Amino acid sequence: MHNFDYQNPTRILFGQGEIANIGNCIPQGSKVLVLYGGGSIKANGVYQQVADALSGYQWFEHGGISPNPKYEELMGAVDKVKAEGIDFLLAVGGGSVADGTKFVAAAALFEGEEPWDILAKQAPVTRALPLGTILTLPATGSEANGNSVVTRGEDKLAFNSPLVYPQFSVLDPTTTYTLPARQVANGVVDAFVHVMEQYLTYPVNAPIQDRFAESLLLTLIEEGPKALADVGKPAETQNYDVRANIMWAATLALNTLIGKGVPQDWATHMIGHELTATLGLDHAQTLAIVLPNLMQAQKATKGAKMLQYAERVWGISDGDDDARIEAAIAKTRDFFERMQVKTRIRDYGHGGEVVDTLVAQLERHGMVKLGEHGDIDLARSRQILEAAL
Ligand code: NZQ
Ligand code: ZN
Repeated sequence: MHNFDYQNPTRILFGQGEIANIGNCIPQGSKVLVLYGGGSIKANGVYQQVADALSGYQWFEHGGISPNPKYEELMGAVDKVKAEGIDFLLAVGGGSVADGTKFVAAAALFEGEEPWDILAKQAPVTRALPLGTILTLPATGSEANGNSVVTRGEDKLAFNSPLVYPQFSVLDPTTTYTLPARQVANGVVDAFVHVMEQYLTYPVNAPIQDRFAESLLLTLIEEGPKALADVGKPAETQNYDVRANIMWAATLALNTLIGKGVPQDWATHMIGHELTATLGLDHAQTLAIVLPNLMQAQKATKGAKMLQYAERVWGISDGDDDARIEAAIAKTRDFFERMQVKTRIRDYGHGGEVVDTLVAQLERHGMVKLGEHGDIDLARSRQILEAAL
């Protein structure tokens, strides 16, 4: 196991009704800015729960944060923070709202000229406003990590800072009952791939991280299809435990714990971000396209962990090494397809013409040595994308 430095400061309030308790987490007297997306929280009653819970505070709101949050709309929130003297940010929604809020937290106190430099030049974040989140879409893990991904034009870029970990996050599984099938599926696939990025590398004698990762994968495989089958049902007939287990799995998939002391990959995500920026695909759709082909291309270096994954996650024990690895890749693709997330670029109406653009974007963003060995160069990325057509 490698050395590591681990601290996760995010307090988690988990379970039905916990939104009512956010007053225990936001300092009295704070001026709060509530940030949200395109309106799902108004339709499903979460907004009203938040309004009730904030009744003792002076609070303001900033809605309209889109999926894959945009720099310009977040800068609008920064203006509001400055104009109203806001001192606490509350994100209510999915990963896009949480990520966007983290950027607002850092940008509002940024001392340089241009807050975009936090992403484009990785300008250091030295101060940030405190924030909390109320999560309504289990997927990204943003509710308990220091990552944020923001888009400006064709640049979808990430930053990470310990200063933007949420101080608290509310995970109430009942808020996820209104998710459409596409978002339930996206969430399960995203969480699954987060685990894979930290698990499917090479062995370093870290059985705790491995088994923890495998338990998350198995839970997502078992519970994901059940949540999909419940989509659209009235709240009374929803399976609370299914939603609860998916929600907790998604948080643990990327609260950084399982990645401590082990190598990490993240090439699927980096290639995937270019697919979103260029073609507008959902984040999870890009991961479902890239991962099976990346597994194929990296068989030589990931072989030992692929065999472990095949046996422990999919129960594959027949055949020689290559046959077992191939079967595990096929099972992975099949799982994404069963979750109704398509795994080929052509399924989204695009063809080979996109590959040059995607490779050029990777080059422009310096994504030329990806993966746990830094061996996914532009030629390998091209090979992965061509196989994904
Ligand atoms: O905008 P509203 O109206 O709220 O609707 C949203 C949005 O249209 C809807 N939604 C959310 N909760 C709902 C709901 N609809 C009905 N009922 C509910 N309870 O779902 C749609 C998608 O929301 P979004 O926040 O975009 O999805 P997700 O949570 O998948 O976030 C994706 C973003 O997170 C980034 C992705 O790149 C992408 O930009 N990521 C962030 C990471 C992190 N911070 O660690 C890691 C990830 O790998 C990822 O890159
Ligand atoms: Zn992701």
